[in-house]
Amino acid sequence: STVDWEVGSYDTGGYEHYLLKEIHEQPAAVERTLSGRLDERFATAHLGGLNLDARELREIRRVKILGCGSAYYAGEMGAQLIEELARIPAHSEPASEFRYRNPVIEADTLYVAVSQSGETYDTLAAVQEIKRKGGRVLGVVNTVGSAIARECDGGIYLHAGPEISVASTKAFTSTVIAFALLALHFGRIHDLSPADGRRIVSALKALPGHIRQILEQDEEIAELAAKYADNAGMMFIGRVRGYPVAREGAQKLKEISYVHAEAYPASELKHGPLALISPELPTVALVPDDELLDKNLTTLGEIKARSGRVLAVAHRAPEAKLADHCILVPKSEPELDPLLLNIPLQLLAYHAAVALGRDVDKPRNLAKSVTVE
Ligand code: AGP
Repeated sequence: STVDWEVGSYDTGGYEHYLLKEIHEQPAAVERTLSGRLDERFATAHLGGLNLDARELREIRRVKILGCGSAYYAGEMGAQLIEELARIPAHSEPASEFRYRNPVIEADTLYVAVSQSGETYDTLAAVQEIKRKGGRVLGVVNTVGSAIARECDGGIYLHAGPEISVASTKAFTSTVIAFALLALHFGRIHDLSPADGRRIVSALKALPGHIRQILEQDEEIAELAAKYADNAGMMFIGRVRGYPVAREGAQKLKEISYVHAEAYPASELKHGPLALISPELPTVALVPDDELLDKNLTTLGEIKARSGRVLAVAHRAPEAKLADHCILVPKSEPELDPLLLNIPLQLLAYHAAVALGRDVDKPRNLAKSVTVE
């Protein structure tokens, strides 16, 4: 069975689909996720619902994040944020796999369950298994009072507002924000300097404005989507921070346009999938202006040398010989750039699905919340 929503119980607010409305609601959703949680004086974040004091947090040696689908990919971004800002080993795993493999539950690991609906059965089962073995679980959940929220020892509510469309967009973005807050809080308890804390606080405050700037490119992205939708498949590549972005971008395209999409770490291309590159399989490449820029540009050269088409999502347009098209995004701090690089991919998937005449808000075979095994 599925948790179903009634068409007409919320309106699309003048947008053609809930999905487009929810994509455009992201600046406001991010503001709500951040609201009352940033502390400029101590350059940290306050998270009232963690139910863990600073001493208990300092005893945590590892973070294990669990979620399904996009919640799992948001968890991958979260794991990178925690490792980068707090220098605590962190890893995201599909809750649907974790629950079937007799996982080792450790007292000094913090488990974090991620779910927009709070009702995903696989994630709930993972939480119950951890708790049965005495582990401590936080929830990163959008729906207040949901089954997963009730089962957890504490957590962070997203306050992203209701998400109707099956494809997650604003909840995904708010989840990454929640992880940024958790990583900042954790980091400042450990060794993140006040200066670095301030750097992250001001970057978080600037994000809604940055997202608005990307959303203003809606029409240009629609034109690009029409150019790229008409292919049997697409490759999405990103390096390190860009890889979860590639995975989420590929997921969104598959889910709503039914176009096959593969996500690969850019560094892995030459270990196999380069054989697939041809004019018929275009690549969406995440090319942030960070310490890996040169490596990413080299990969684009390798794709172009095999007659591949490249759509770059970047802070600065690569040379014309390295990318056929480019979507520019504003630069944040490197740790937060993935969140912004993901926004154009939502619009790309949306417009590709519209161009192909798909049922955008209710794609075939999928439910908003999978409440069965
Ligand atoms: C996202 O676009 C998908 N519809 C799907 O992967 C979803 O994120 C997953 O089923 C988890 O849902 P939840 O966040 O409600 O637990």
